[in-house]
Amino acid sequence: MIIAPHNQRGGVGKTTTSVHIAHAAALYGKRVLLVDSDPQGSLRNILKIQHDSTLHDLLDNGFKLEEVIVKGVRTGPEKGTLDVIISDKALTETETKLIQSGNRAETVGKLREALAPVKDMHYDLILIDSPPGLSPILQSVYHTVDSLLVPIAMDYMSFVGSHQVIESLSLLKQDYDIRATIAGILPVAVDHRLAVTDSTLTSIKNKYERYYPIFPPIRIDATIAKSGMRGQTLYDRLALPVERLTPDHRAAWDYYQVMKLLIQGQHSPGILKPPDA
Ligand SMILES: Nc1ncnc2c1ncn2[C@@H]1O[C@H](COP(=O)(O)OP(=O)(O)OP(=O)(O)O)[C@@H](O)[C@H]1O
Ligand SMILES: [Mg+2]
Repeated sequence: MIIAPHNQRGGVGKTTTSVHIAHAAALYGKRVLLVDSDPQGSLRNILKIQHDSTLHDLLDNGFKLEEVIVKGVRTGPEKGTLDVIISDKALTETETKLIQSGNRAETVGKLREALAPVKDMHYDLILIDSPPGLSPILQSVYHTVDSLLVPIAMDYMSFVGSHQVIESLSLLKQDYDIRATIAGILPVAVDHRLAVTDSTLTSIKNKYERYYPIFPPIRIDATIAKSGMRGQTLYDRLALPVERLTPDHRAAWDYYQVMKLLIQGQHSPGILKPPDA
């Protein structure tokens, strides 16, 4: 199962969602590969990874997957492990080449082709952290994944960005053999003390409820930014066995529940028919 959290709007929780679902799944005993497809390269900082080769080396410099995958960045019980392919600003060179090549089919298929051998590596879950906007790399992400999980932070522009995801996916599907579906909508940074939260949640419900699963929300949690700055996830910071997580652990608890729903494929009921994706 290959999933990318994506919203075309920047700063809406894509990276936070990728990292925490990935780490939660490893702590749940799953084999997880997390791929950074954003030249901002945040994953290496949040997970404190020192490694020379990156996704750019895989896509452009002839490196093999084994050379770019950083193994066992975090571990969990049984076979639980988190492996990561990091990125950095060199990925913008890949983007430039893709734009200059003028070959859209090559552009769109690039990442999928490069990651094809992971099928034999027996991962339970592959997550791709995506950049904002609709860059060539992102189109390539759409072509690679089985589904997109759409985080929506509690503001209007984030809500607009979610619709752009669905439109872009629909447009790309007209031209390419893209199988990706929408795994669901994930409200993030939910803070019921703010009026905008309730109005955004109502808009999400009205617009998407009939078509897509809406996952339980991720609450606002000031410790996310603090942990990230120290090169930690929320689970690193808490340093607890997951059996001892409680709802008081806010986003750490919320992401753990969403991860289980995603892995078990138990999204909320009531999907009638995706309108255009
Ligand atoms: N549930 C939350 N509670 C509080 N802060 C959050 C929450 N989720 C994300 N944030 C904060 O919001 C900011 C943006 O999050 P993040 O980097 O995950 O967004 P992004 O969509 O990946 O951004 P970009 O488009 O730049 O890649 C970060 O500072 C992060 O710590
Ligand atoms: Mg990000």
